[in-house]
Amino acid sequence: MSNARIGLVGLAVMGANLALNIAEKGFPVAVYNRTTTRINDFVAQAGNLAKNLVPCETPAALVASLPRPRAIIIMVKAGAAVDAVIKQLEPMLDPGDMIIDAGNANFHDTRRREAVLRKAGLSFLGMGVSGGEEGARHGPSIMVGGLSESYDEIRDIVEAIAAKYQGDPCAAHLGPDGAGHFVKTVHNGIEYADMQMIAEVYGILRDGSGREAAAIGALFRRWNKGPLKSYLVEISAKVLTTPDPETGKPIVDVIVDRAGQKGTGRWTVIEALGLGQSASTIEAAVGARSWSAAKDMRLAGQAVFSDLEKDEDGTSGLSDEDLENALLAAKTIAYAQGFSLLNAASEEFDWSLDMGRVAEIWREGCIIRSAMLDDMAAAARTGLPHGQLIFAPEFAAKLVATSGALRRVVAHAALLGLPAPAFSAALAYFDTMRRGRGSTDLIQAQRDFFGAHGFERTDGGADHHGPWAGTD
Ligand code: 2AM
Repeated sequence: MSNARIGLVGLAVMGANLALNIAEKGFPVAVYNRTTTRINDFVAQAGNLAKNLVPCETPAALVASLPRPRAIIIMVKAGAAVDAVIKQLEPMLDPGDMIIDAGNANFHDTRRREAVLRKAGLSFLGMGVSGGEEGARHGPSIMVGGLSESYDEIRDIVEAIAAKYQGDPCAAHLGPDGAGHFVKTVHNGIEYADMQMIAEVYGILRDGSGREAAAIGALFRRWNKGPLKSYLVEISAKVLTTPDPETGKPIVDVIVDRAGQKGTGRWTVIEALGLGQSASTIEAAVGARSWSAAKDMRLAGQAVFSDLEKDEDGTSGLSDEDLENALLAAKTIAYAQGFSLLNAASEEFDWSLDMGRVAEIWREGCIIRSAMLDDMAAAARTGLPHGQLIFAPEFAAKLVATSGALRRVVAHAALLGLPAPAFSAALAYFDTMRRGRGSTDLIQAQRDFFGAHGFERTDGGADHHGPWAGTD
């Protein structure tokens, strides 16, 4: 019996929404979940989309309901659950069948799974899906890695369910094996930085200027009509103007300032360092979340250090426009670091990532969608000088125009004693990249002094040593 076009395992929120999206686009989808009560509940709540759902009580029934070559999406908890489901399905599949992992996998796992399944004659796609619940249901951004021939078999479904930017599906096959999951990981890393930078502006306005949440929300709403237009600024405006139904206070005032992290931000930073890069804005954002979790320590710190001198001047001298421009500059640098990391990984793993296409499929559907991404896509399509977004003429000009504001905001935050780790990281990167001569000459000399590491001379030649003998 083959009455479905594609299968889907895992009916938690993301899987269920993805299945409904597929069903809505007219593709019959066979669904299975380990806890089988979830299957019937899901179908019962699917309304008239139930006609395109084929509930399966067992993995075997799911496999049997699919035409060959079969395509099965797995949307379960990343990690061991994915291996468990693959192990269950694999013996029932035939050569040419395909498993698609749509979860937030670590791309190293995706590379491993792809290699193992390929040897077994099966195809494995790692498919990053961004957009949260709403995106999964009505149009996410989809980043695919694996064999392009395999992608072609399900491309019509993927493009149908993806978000559209002026008609162009925000879905693409980006490269082999782990390319899709890697791009999704870096997407999430950029998302961390973007969220952190918006939160830093909020913190400076709240604690530096004493501005109320609703007023900050109104400012963000205004910014969302300009160059900062983005999903994250839009929802931040909504959040800041939402009252808590119980107390009537702004909802942010009753939310504990302690955040967790699910892994993709941390993975981005680890991969960046492993590739000899530094996505310092993303690292700052991941670090800020770790610090946020240390609430008790921060409360203890407040007791010990609270009476340090503060700049009396508050944020006077810092305009709202400065904050807007600082956010534009810092955000540009976070994206630039993300693209730089993608470039490095593309070279290391031989993926030939198309940066223009990556930026294009982030323009709609995903959490970091923003007006800036269309400009980034255009810049990447024409080729980034030295592979760097900050050197693309349009972005270089924007940084010239906005970096002064970033500097003023970082300086003010420092004087006020307000943390702005992601803004500070962005500024340090920018200032490093605009100085042909840094201070690492001294580090090279130090290394040669204690370890005879050797150094290059400015007037030519490598492996020189300093005249350290006899130096006190
Ligand atoms: P469950 O409903 O049976 O818990 C998110 O946790 C999704 O991953 C759920 O659909 C969950 O199924 C599924 N999941 C988690 N671990 C799993 C495993 N080892 N095998 C199969 N599905 C799993």
